[in-house]
Amino acid sequence: MAKKKQLWGGRFAGSTADSVVAFTASVDVDRRLYRHDIAGSIAHARMLGRQGIIPAGEARKIVAGLRAVRKEIESGAFPFSVADEDIHMNIERRLTEKIGSVGEKLHTARSRNDQVNLDTRLYLREALDGILGDLQALQEALAGAARRNEHVLMPGYTHLQRAQPVLFAHHLLAYVEMFERDKSRYHHCREQTNVMPLGSGALAGTTFPIDRAYVAKLLGFPRVTQNSIDAVSDRDFVLEFLSASAILFVHLSRMADELILWSSEEFGFIELPDAYCTGSSMMPQKKNPDVAELIRGKTGRVYGHLNALLAIMKGLPLAYNRDLQEDKEPLFDTADTVAACLAMARELFNGLKVRGERMAAAAEQGFMNATDLADYLVGRGLSFRAAHDVVGRVVRHCIDQGCKLDDLPLEELQGYCPDIGPDVYKVLTLRAGVERRRAPGGTAPVNVRRQLKKLGV
Ligand code: ARG
Repeated sequence: MAKKKQLWGGRFAGSTADSVVAFTASVDVDRRLYRHDIAGSIAHARMLGRQGIIPAGEARKIVAGLRAVRKEIESGAFPFSVADEDIHMNIERRLTEKIGSVGEKLHTARSRNDQVNLDTRLYLREALDGILGDLQALQEALAGAARRNEHVLMPGYTHLQRAQPVLFAHHLLAYVEMFERDKSRYHHCREQTNVMPLGSGALAGTTFPIDRAYVAKLLGFPRVTQNSIDAVSDRDFVLEFLSASAILFVHLSRMADELILWSSEEFGFIELPDAYCTGSSMMPQKKNPDVAELIRGKTGRVYGHLNALLAIMKGLPLAYNRDLQEDKEPLFDTADTVAACLAMARELFNGLKVRGERMAAAAEQGFMNATDLADYLVGRGLSFRAAHDVVGRVVRHCIDQGCKLDDLPLEELQGYCPDIGPDVYKVLTLRAGVERRRAPGGTAPVNVRRQLKKLGV
Protein backbone atom coordinates (compact mmCIF):
# COMPACT_ATOMS: atom_id res chain seq x y z
CA MET A 1 0.00 0.00 0.00
CA ALA A 2 1.36 3.44 -0.93
CA LYS A 3 2.40 5.43 2.12
CA LYS A 4 0.17 8.48 2.71
CA LYS A 5 2.12 11.67 1.97
CA GLN A 6 3.12 13.21 5.27
CA LEU A 7 1.75 16.76 5.31
CA TRP A 8 4.16 17.95 7.96
CA GLY A 9 7.41 16.78 6.36
CA GLY A 10 10.33 14.82 7.70
CA ARG A 11 9.76 15.36 11.39
CA PHE A 12 6.87 12.91 11.40
CA ALA A 13 7.34 9.17 11.05
CA GLY A 14 3.67 8.31 10.79
CA SER A 15 0.65 10.09 9.36
CA THR A 16 -1.92 12.08 11.28
CA ALA A 17 -4.89 10.11 12.60
CA ASP A 18 -7.93 10.49 10.38
CA SER A 19 -9.94 11.71 13.35
CA VAL A 20 -7.36 14.44 13.96
CA VAL A 21 -7.35 15.45 10.31
CA ALA A 22 -11.10 15.89 10.51
CA PHE A 23 -10.93 17.65 13.88
CA THR A 24 -8.26 20.19 12.98
CA ALA A 25 -9.25 20.96 9.39
CA SER A 26 -10.67 24.41 8.77
CA VAL A 27 -10.87 24.48 5.00
CA ASP A 28 -14.64 24.18 4.95
CA VAL A 29 -14.79 27.50 6.74
CA ASP A 30 -11.67 29.38 5.65
CA ARG A 31 -12.05 28.62 1.93
CA ARG A 32 -13.90 31.91 1.89
CA LEU A 33 -10.46 33.50 2.18
CA TYR A 34 -9.22 32.09 -1.13
CA ARG A 35 -9.15 35.42 -2.99
CA HIS A 36 -7.39 37.17 -0.16
CA ASP A 37 -4.97 34.31 0.30
CA ILE A 38 -4.05 34.35 -3.38
CA ALA A 39 -3.73 38.14 -3.48
CA GLY A 40 -1.40 37.98 -0.46
CA SER A 41 0.64 35.16 -1.99
CA ILE A 42 1.00 36.99 -5.31
CA ALA A 43 2.31 40.08 -3.51
CA HIS A 44 4.66 37.92 -1.44
CA ALA A 45 5.98 36.07 -4.53
CA ARG A 46 6.55 39.31 -6.41
CA MET A 47 8.48 40.67 -3.45
CA LEU A 48 10.59 37.49 -3.20
CA GLY A 49 11.50 37.79 -6.90
CA ARG A 50 12.20 41.50 -6.71
CA GLN A 51 14.50 41.04 -3.74
CA GLY A 52 16.34 38.18 -5.43
CA ILE A 53 15.31 35.80 -2.65
CA ILE A 54 14.04 33.51 -5.40
CA PRO A 55 14.86 33.94 -9.11
CA ALA A 56 12.58 36.50 -10.81
CA GLY A 57 11.53 33.98 -13.44
CA GLU A 58 10.37 31.57 -10.76
CA ALA A 59 8.43 34.30 -9.04
CA ARG A 60 6.63 35.00 -12.31
CA LYS A 61 5.84 31.32 -12.67
CA ILE A 62 4.39 31.24 -9.17
CA VAL A 63 2.26 34.33 -9.81
CA ALA A 64 0.88 32.83 -13.02
CA GLY A 65 0.24 29.56 -11.21
CA LEU A 66 -1.63 31.32 -8.41
CA ARG A 67 -3.83 33.08 -10.93
CA ALA A 68 -4.61 29.73 -12.54
CA VAL A 69 -5.51 28.29 -9.13
CA ARG A 70 -7.85 31.23 -8.53
CA LYS A 71 -9.58 30.56 -11.85
CA GLU A 72 -9.94 26.94 -10.92
CA ILE A 73 -11.54 27.79 -7.58
CA GLU A 74 -13.91 30.22 -9.25
CA SER A 75 -14.92 27.68 -11.88
CA GLY A 76 -15.80 25.21 -9.12
CA ALA A 77 -13.24 22.68 -10.36
CA PHE A 78 -10.76 23.10 -7.51
CA PRO A 79 -10.28 19.85 -5.59
CA PHE A 80 -10.57 21.03 -1.99
CA SER A 81 -9.14 18.50 0.40
CA VAL A 82 -9.70 18.27 4.12
CA ALA A 83 -6.40 16.37 4.31
CA ASP A 84 -4.70 19.66 3.40
CA GLU A 85 -6.17 21.21 6.50
CA ASP A 86 -6.82 24.82 5.55
CA ILE A 87 -7.16 27.12 2.57
CA HIS A 88 -3.48 28.08 2.67
CA MET A 89 -2.22 24.51 2.36
CA ASN A 90 -4.87 23.63 -0.22
CA ILE A 91 -3.77 26.45 -2.48
CA GLU A 92 -0.07 25.76 -2.03
CA ARG A 93 -0.57 22.05 -2.74
CA ARG A 94 -2.52 22.79 -5.91
CA LEU A 95 0.01 25.39 -7.02
CA THR A 96 2.78 22.83 -6.77
CA GLU A 97 0.71 20.23 -8.61
CA LYS A 98 0.25 22.74 -11.41
CA ILE A 99 3.72 24.31 -11.75
CA GLY A 100 5.94 21.70 -10.16
CA SER A 101 8.43 22.04 -7.35
CA VAL A 102 8.93 25.79 -8.00
CA GLY A 103 5.65 26.16 -6.11
CA GLU A 104 7.38 24.93 -2.99
CA LYS A 105 9.42 28.15 -2.92
CA LEU A 106 6.38 30.35 -2.31
CA HIS A 107 6.45 29.79 1.42
CA THR A 108 10.02 31.16 1.76
CA ALA A 109 10.16 33.84 4.51
CA ARG A 110 6.55 33.22 5.47
CA SER A 111 4.54 31.25 8.00
CA ARG A 112 0.87 30.44 7.98
CA ASN A 113 0.76 32.49 11.16
CA ASP A 114 1.44 35.77 9.40
CA GLN A 115 -0.33 34.53 6.26
CA VAL A 116 -3.66 33.86 7.96
CA ASN A 117 -3.45 37.18 9.77
CA LEU A 118 -2.95 38.95 6.46
CA ASP A 119 -5.82 37.09 4.82
CA THR A 120 -8.15 37.92 7.69
CA ARG A 121 -7.24 41.60 7.48
CA LEU A 122 -7.77 41.66 3.72
CA TYR A 123 -11.14 39.96 4.14
CA LEU A 124 -12.30 42.27 6.92
CA ARG A 125 -11.14 45.42 5.16
CA GLU A 126 -13.28 44.49 2.19
CA ALA A 127 -16.24 43.47 4.37
CA LEU A 128 -16.02 46.78 6.23
CA ASP A 129 -16.17 48.76 3.01
CA GLY A 130 -19.35 46.90 2.08
CA ILE A 131 -20.89 47.39 5.51
CA LEU A 132 -20.05 51.09 5.59
CA GLY A 133 -21.86 51.46 2.27
CA ASP A 134 -24.84 49.47 3.58
CA LEU A 135 -25.04 51.65 6.67
CA GLN A 136 -25.02 54.77 4.53
CA ALA A 137 -27.81 53.31 2.39
CA LEU A 138 -29.90 52.55 5.48
CA GLN A 139 -29.40 56.11 6.71
CA GLU A 140 -30.60 57.36 3.34
CA ALA A 141 -33.68 55.14 3.53
CA LEU A 142 -34.48 56.51 7.00
CA ALA A 143 -33.92 60.07 5.85
CA GLY A 144 -36.16 59.41 2.84
CA ALA A 145 -38.96 58.09 5.05
CA ALA A 146 -38.49 61.09 7.34
CA ARG A 147 -38.67 63.44 4.36
CA ARG A 148 -41.85 61.82 3.00
CA ASN A 149 -43.52 62.20 6.42
CA GLU A 150 -41.90 65.41 7.48
CA HIS A 151 -44.98 66.92 9.13
CA VAL A 152 -46.40 63.82 10.80
CA LEU A 153 -46.83 64.15 14.57
CA MET A 154 -46.52 61.18 16.86
CA PRO A 155 -46.52 60.59 20.59
CA GLY A 156 -42.98 60.47 21.91
CA TYR A 157 -42.51 57.94 24.69
CA THR A 158 -40.59 57.39 27.86
CA HIS A 159 -41.18 54.14 29.78
CA LEU A 160 -43.42 53.29 26.81
CA GLN A 161 -45.87 55.82 28.24
CA ARG A 162 -46.94 58.75 26.10
CA ALA A 163 -44.70 61.64 27.05
CA GLN A 164 -44.42 64.57 24.66
CA PRO A 165 -45.38 65.03 21.03
CA VAL A 166 -42.55 64.74 18.51
CA LEU A 167 -42.23 64.72 14.77
CA PHE A 168 -42.13 61.18 13.39
CA ALA A 169 -39.22 62.41 11.27
CA HIS A 170 -37.34 63.41 14.43
CA HIS A 171 -37.80 59.90 15.78
CA LEU A 172 -36.44 58.34 12.58
CA LEU A 173 -33.51 60.72 12.56
CA ALA A 174 -32.55 59.47 16.02
CA TYR A 175 -31.59 56.19 14.34
CA VAL A 176 -29.65 58.07 11.67
CA GLU A 177 -27.54 59.54 14.48
CA MET A 178 -26.94 56.11 16.02
CA PHE A 179 -25.87 54.69 12.68
CA GLU A 180 -23.51 57.62 12.19
CA ARG A 181 -21.71 56.62 15.39
CA ASP A 182 -21.75 52.99 14.26
CA LYS A 183 -20.02 54.11 11.08
CA SER A 184 -17.34 55.90 13.02
CA ARG A 185 -16.72 52.77 15.11
CA TYR A 186 -16.35 50.76 11.89
CA HIS A 187 -14.04 53.42 10.44
CA HIS A 188 -11.82 53.10 13.48
CA CYS A 189 -11.87 49.33 13.14
CA ARG A 190 -10.87 49.70 9.49
CA GLU A 191 -7.85 51.76 10.47
CA GLN A 192 -6.72 49.09 12.93
CA THR A 193 -7.33 46.38 10.37
CA ASN A 194 -5.52 48.16 7.59
CA VAL A 195 -1.99 47.27 8.76
CA MET A 196 0.18 44.74 6.93
CA PRO A 197 1.43 41.81 9.07
CA LEU A 198 3.32 39.68 6.52
CA GLY A 199 7.01 39.39 7.34
CA SER A 200 6.31 38.50 10.95
CA GLY A 201 6.95 34.86 10.13
CA ALA A 202 5.90 32.30 12.69
CA LEU A 203 6.51 34.78 15.50
CA ALA A 204 10.05 36.21 15.39
CA GLY A 205 10.33 37.69 11.90
CA THR A 206 12.55 36.31 9.15
CA THR A 207 16.23 36.04 8.24
CA PHE A 208 15.54 36.83 4.56
CA PRO A 209 16.04 40.36 3.18
CA ILE A 210 12.33 40.94 2.57
CA ASP A 211 10.72 44.27 1.67
CA ARG A 212 7.61 44.59 3.78
CA ALA A 213 6.80 48.08 2.55
CA TYR A 214 6.66 46.80 -1.02
CA VAL A 215 4.19 44.05 -0.08
CA ALA A 216 2.13 46.63 1.80
CA LYS A 217 2.11 48.89 -1.24
CA LEU A 218 1.04 46.08 -3.55
CA LEU A 219 -1.85 45.23 -1.24
CA GLY A 220 -2.87 48.83 -0.49
CA PHE A 221 -1.87 48.93 3.18
CA PRO A 222 -0.70 52.33 4.45
CA ARG A 223 1.55 50.80 7.14
CA VAL A 224 3.10 47.58 8.40
CA THR A 225 2.90 46.00 11.85
CA GLN A 226 5.79 46.83 14.19
CA ASN A 227 6.10 43.74 16.37
CA SER A 228 6.07 40.24 14.93
CA ILE A 229 4.90 38.59 18.15
CA ASP A 230 1.95 40.96 18.43
CA ALA A 231 1.14 40.67 14.74
CA VAL A 232 0.70 36.89 14.70
CA SER A 233 -1.00 36.57 18.07
CA ASP A 234 -3.63 39.26 18.36
CA ARG A 235 -7.03 39.43 16.78
CA ASP A 236 -8.15 42.64 18.40
CA PHE A 237 -9.06 44.07 15.01
CA VAL A 238 -11.60 41.23 14.72
CA LEU A 239 -12.79 41.85 18.28
CA GLU A 240 -13.23 45.49 17.40
CA PHE A 241 -15.37 44.50 14.45
CA LEU A 242 -17.46 42.16 16.57
CA SER A 243 -17.97 44.75 19.29
CA ALA A 244 -18.85 47.51 16.83
CA SER A 245 -21.32 45.04 15.30
CA ALA A 246 -22.77 44.15 18.68
CA ILE A 247 -23.39 47.84 19.35
CA LEU A 248 -24.86 48.27 15.88
CA PHE A 249 -27.27 45.46 16.73
CA VAL A 250 -28.37 47.24 19.87
CA HIS A 251 -29.58 49.92 17.49
CA LEU A 252 -30.96 47.61 14.82
CA SER A 253 -32.77 45.54 17.40
CA ARG A 254 -34.44 48.52 19.05
CA MET A 255 -35.47 49.82 15.66
CA ALA A 256 -36.86 46.42 14.64
CA ASP A 257 -38.74 46.23 17.90
CA GLU A 258 -40.38 49.58 17.25
CA LEU A 259 -41.44 48.50 13.78
CA ILE A 260 -43.03 45.43 15.34
CA LEU A 261 -44.83 47.49 17.97
CA TRP A 262 -45.92 50.18 15.55
CA SER A 263 -47.31 47.68 13.05
CA SER A 264 -49.45 45.98 15.73
CA GLU A 265 -53.18 46.64 15.80
CA GLU A 266 -52.70 48.23 19.23
CA PHE A 267 -50.48 50.97 17.81
CA GLY A 268 -51.43 50.93 14.14
CA PHE A 269 -48.84 53.63 13.36
CA ILE A 270 -47.38 51.99 10.29
CA GLU A 271 -48.03 49.31 7.76
CA LEU A 272 -45.18 47.13 6.61
CA PRO A 273 -45.11 46.24 2.92
CA ASP A 274 -46.82 42.88 2.15
CA ALA A 275 -43.68 41.65 0.43
CA TYR A 276 -41.82 41.94 3.74
CA CYS A 277 -44.34 40.13 5.93
CA THR A 278 -45.45 36.55 6.19
CA GLY A 279 -48.76 34.88 6.91
CA SER A 280 -49.75 32.19 9.35
CA SER A 281 -50.22 28.56 8.38
CA MET A 282 -53.29 28.41 10.62
CA MET A 283 -54.73 31.88 11.09
CA PRO A 284 -55.80 33.30 7.74
CA GLN A 285 -56.04 36.89 8.98
CA LYS A 286 -52.43 37.16 10.12
CA LYS A 287 -49.76 39.40 8.64
CA ASN A 288 -46.62 39.00 10.69
CA PRO A 289 -43.58 41.27 10.85
CA ASP A 290 -41.12 38.36 10.59
CA VAL A 291 -38.37 40.34 8.88
CA ALA A 292 -38.21 42.82 11.75
CA GLU A 293 -38.44 39.97 14.26
CA LEU A 294 -35.51 38.20 12.65
CA ILE A 295 -33.40 41.35 12.70
CA ARG A 296 -34.17 41.53 16.42
CA GLY A 297 -33.54 37.80 16.84
CA LYS A 298 -30.25 37.73 14.96
CA THR A 299 -28.91 40.17 17.52
CA GLY A 300 -28.42 37.14 19.75
CA ARG A 301 -25.96 35.45 17.44
CA VAL A 302 -23.95 38.64 16.97
CA TYR A 303 -23.61 39.11 20.74
CA GLY A 304 -22.71 35.43 20.94
CA HIS A 305 -19.92 35.77 18.39
CA LEU A 306 -18.36 38.64 20.33
CA ASN A 307 -18.48 36.60 23.52
CA ALA A 308 -17.03 33.59 21.72
CA LEU A 309 -13.96 35.42 20.49
CA LEU A 310 -13.41 37.21 23.79
CA ALA A 311 -13.42 33.80 25.49
CA ILE A 312 -11.14 32.30 22.83
CA MET A 313 -8.55 35.06 23.20
CA LYS A 314 -8.53 35.35 26.96
CA GLY A 315 -5.49 33.79 28.59
CA LEU A 316 -3.73 32.75 25.37
CA PRO A 317 0.02 32.93 25.90
CA LEU A 318 1.94 34.81 23.18
CA ALA A 319 2.37 34.21 20.33
CA TYR A 320 0.26 32.14 17.90
CA ASN A 321 -1.96 29.35 19.25
CA ARG A 322 -4.23 27.15 17.23
CA ASP A 323 -7.18 28.41 19.24
CA LEU A 324 -7.03 31.44 16.96
CA GLN A 325 -8.36 29.40 14.07
CA GLU A 326 -11.72 29.61 15.85
CA ASP A 327 -11.99 33.31 14.96
CA LYS A 328 -13.27 32.69 11.45
CA GLU A 329 -16.82 31.51 12.03
CA PRO A 330 -17.71 34.37 14.38
CA LEU A 331 -16.14 36.81 11.94
CA PHE A 332 -17.80 35.49 8.78
CA ASP A 333 -21.19 34.97 10.34
CA THR A 334 -21.17 38.43 11.89
CA ALA A 335 -20.22 40.07 8.60
CA ASP A 336 -22.95 38.12 6.78
CA THR A 337 -25.55 38.89 9.43
CA VAL A 338 -24.71 42.59 9.53
CA ALA A 339 -24.91 42.90 5.75
CA ALA A 340 -28.18 40.95 5.52
CA CYS A 341 -29.89 42.87 8.31
CA LEU A 342 -28.79 46.26 7.03
CA ALA A 343 -30.20 45.43 3.61
CA MET A 344 -33.48 44.16 5.05
CA ALA A 345 -33.91 47.17 7.31
CA ARG A 346 -33.29 49.48 4.37
CA GLU A 347 -35.92 47.73 2.27
CA LEU A 348 -38.44 47.88 5.13
CA PHE A 349 -38.06 51.64 5.40
CA ASN A 350 -38.21 52.16 1.67
CA GLY A 351 -41.62 50.44 1.59
CA LEU A 352 -42.98 51.77 4.87
CA LYS A 353 -46.55 53.10 4.92
CA VAL A 354 -47.06 55.65 7.67
CA ARG A 355 -50.52 56.13 9.17
CA GLY A 356 -50.11 59.75 10.18
CA GLU A 357 -53.74 60.14 11.28
CA ARG A 358 -53.38 57.25 13.76
CA MET A 359 -50.20 58.74 15.17
CA ALA A 360 -51.76 62.19 15.53
CA ALA A 361 -54.87 60.72 17.19
CA ALA A 362 -52.68 58.85 19.67
CA ALA A 363 -50.72 62.02 20.32
CA GLU A 364 -53.97 63.82 21.29
CA GLN A 365 -54.40 61.43 24.22
CA GLY A 366 -52.37 61.22 27.39
CA PHE A 367 -51.86 64.90 28.35
CA MET A 368 -48.80 65.22 26.17
CA ASN A 369 -49.12 69.02 26.40
CA ALA A 370 -48.75 69.01 30.20
CA THR A 371 -45.11 70.11 30.04
CA ASP A 372 -46.13 72.92 27.71
CA LEU A 373 -48.66 74.16 30.25
CA ALA A 374 -45.97 74.05 32.96
CA ASP A 375 -43.55 75.94 30.68
CA TYR A 376 -46.32 78.51 30.07
CA LEU A 377 -46.72 79.03 33.83
CA VAL A 378 -42.96 79.54 34.15
CA GLY A 379 -43.41 82.31 31.57
CA ARG A 380 -45.98 83.77 33.98
CA GLY A 381 -43.42 83.89 36.78
CA LEU A 382 -43.84 80.55 38.56
CA SER A 383 -40.83 78.41 39.36
CA PHE A 384 -40.75 75.23 37.32
CA ARG A 385 -41.34 73.09 40.42
CA ALA A 386 -44.40 75.12 41.41
CA ALA A 387 -45.70 74.99 37.84
CA HIS A 388 -45.13 71.23 37.76
CA ASP A 389 -47.22 70.84 40.88
CA VAL A 390 -50.08 73.01 39.57
CA VAL A 391 -50.25 71.19 36.24
CA GLY A 392 -50.16 67.84 38.03
CA ARG A 393 -53.30 68.84 39.90
CA VAL A 394 -54.98 70.05 36.71
CA VAL A 395 -54.18 66.71 35.06
CA ARG A 396 -55.64 64.77 37.97
CA HIS A 397 -58.80 66.86 37.69
CA CYS A 398 -59.01 66.16 33.93
CA ILE A 399 -58.61 62.43 34.53
CA ASP A 400 -61.54 62.57 36.95
CA GLN A 401 -63.60 64.54 34.44
CA GLY A 402 -62.55 62.42 31.49
CA CYS A 403 -61.41 65.46 29.50
CA LYS A 404 -58.26 66.98 28.03
CA LEU A 405 -56.34 69.99 29.34
CA ASP A 406 -57.51 72.24 26.54
CA ASP A 407 -61.16 71.21 27.14
CA LEU A 408 -61.16 73.11 30.44
CA PRO A 409 -62.71 76.61 30.31
CA LEU A 410 -60.41 79.50 31.16
CA GLU A 411 -62.10 80.25 34.51
CA GLU A 412 -61.52 76.70 35.62
CA LEU A 413 -57.83 76.88 34.67
CA GLN A 414 -57.55 80.20 36.46
CA GLY A 415 -58.87 78.46 39.56
CA TYR A 416 -55.53 76.67 39.66
CA CYS A 417 -53.45 79.69 38.76
CA PRO A 418 -54.94 83.17 38.27
CA ASP A 419 -52.07 84.19 35.94
CA ILE A 420 -53.33 81.94 33.15
CA GLY A 421 -54.64 84.01 30.23
CA PRO A 422 -56.63 83.19 27.07
CA ASP A 423 -53.36 82.83 25.14
CA VAL A 424 -52.87 79.47 26.92
CA TYR A 425 -54.96 77.58 24.36
CA LYS A 426 -52.63 78.15 21.47
CA VAL A 427 -49.75 76.92 23.63
CA LEU A 428 -51.69 73.74 24.30
CA THR A 429 -51.96 72.56 20.69
CA LEU A 430 -49.59 69.72 19.92
CA ARG A 431 -48.29 71.42 16.82
CA ALA A 432 -47.31 74.49 18.91
CA GLY A 433 -45.61 72.22 21.42
CA VAL A 434 -43.49 70.70 18.72
CA GLU A 435 -42.77 74.02 17.03
CA ARG A 436 -41.54 75.62 20.23
CA ARG A 437 -38.90 72.95 20.93
CA ARG A 438 -36.41 74.87 18.87
CA ALA A 439 -33.28 74.52 21.02
CA PRO A 440 -30.62 72.62 19.04
CA GLY A 441 -31.40 68.92 18.94
CA GLY A 442 -35.10 69.43 19.72
CA THR A 443 -38.01 68.18 17.64
CA ALA A 444 -39.00 71.56 16.10
CA PRO A 445 -39.72 71.36 12.36
CA VAL A 446 -36.98 73.93 11.64
CA ASN A 447 -34.43 71.65 13.30
CA VAL A 448 -35.69 68.57 11.53
CA ARG A 449 -35.59 70.42 8.21
CA ARG A 450 -32.00 71.46 8.88
CA GLN A 451 -31.02 67.87 9.69
CA LEU A 452 -32.71 66.55 6.57
CA LYS A 453 -30.95 69.16 4.49
CA LYS A 454 -27.63 68.10 5.96
CA LEU A 455 -28.47 64.55 4.88
CA GLY A 456 -29.23 65.79 1.38
CA VAL A 457 -32.99 65.14 1.34
N1 ARG B 1 -5.63 27.50 9.86
C1 ARG B 1 -4.79 28.25 10.77
C2 ARG B 1 -5.61 29.39 11.39
O1 ARG B 1 -6.65 29.69 10.89
C3 ARG B 1 -3.63 28.80 10.03
C4 ARG B 1 -2.41 28.97 10.86
C5 ARG B 1 -1.92 27.67 11.31
N2 ARG B 1 -0.69 27.79 11.99
C6 ARG B 1 -0.19 26.81 12.76
N3 ARG B 1 0.93 27.04 13.33
N4 ARG B 1 -0.80 25.68 12.90
O2 ARG B 1 -5.21 29.96 12.38
